Amino acid sequence: MSAETNNAIVVLTGAGISKESGLDTFRDADGIWAKVRLEEVATPEAFARDPEGVHEFYNSRRRKLREGDVRPNAAHAALARLEAEWPGSVLIVTQNVDNLHERAGSKNLIHMHGEHVKARCAHCGVTLVWECDMSRDDVCADCGRPGGMRPHIVWFGEMPLQMERIFAALETCALFVSIGTSGNVYPAAGFVQHARLSTNAHTVELNLEPSESATLFAESHYGPATEVVPGYVERLLETGQVN
Ligand code: APR
Repeated sequence: MSAETNNAIVVLTGAGISKESGLDTFRDADGIWAKVRLEEVATPEAFARDPEGVHEFYNSRRRKLREGDVRPNAAHAALARLEAEWPGSVLIVTQNVDNLHERAGSKNLIHMHGEHVKARCAHCGVTLVWECDMSRDDVCADCGRPGGMRPHIVWFGEMPLQMERIFAALETCALFVSIGTSGNVYPAAGFVQHARLSTNAHTVELNLEPSESATLFAESHYGPATEVVPGYVERLLETGQVN
């Protein structure tokens, strides 16, 4: 593919894009890690030590997604519009485990940190759709063995999902856009550098405030995602130019 025809876009999203849908971020003052210690709920060691405690943490967040008034917002909708109308590929790589991108209509989507609405069997490795509460008593619908079901969430110390596909996209994109992430957690925080160095992609940060990686971006627009993202997508579609 020649450089001038390359108009592939990779979008990384983080908890900030779902904040205005009513879901907490992690590192804001009122964030999840201000209320519970990640070492107690988001590591394989925590799950081995206190499986029911970890299940309850994820059950409560899954319940909020299922029963709370949580819907995709204008930023999720703008990204679904970009995928539908942009004359090239648009891949969303999300760190989020909610299902708001799918519900907004996005299709070309990778959940690199897993998904609330899925479970994984530690015995046979199968991944199953799972929207209700989960406990150690649950039986795997595939292998029939009990006691092995865990949230399909990538915990700290575990390898994020589909990394080869993500790096392949970063190495062939013309535009990398980061939305609603603090740039604290790798490998996602390193994607901007990878895109810049491997394909000289134009890089854009859309966030409430400058992230840890802010200086690495060629362009940035700050403000609430429901204002900044639709405006950015509108301009992108109007001009057809990635930079
Ligand atoms: N609009 C846009 N950005 C926002 C908004 C908003 N309304 N509200 C908050 N933000 C920004 C914050 O300024 C912050 O930079 O969203 C970012 C959220 O950062 P984090 O809470 O660290 O969330 P995230 O970057 O997604 O965390 C990455 O860390 O704990 C792990 O696995 C977890 O996927 C998560 C990963």
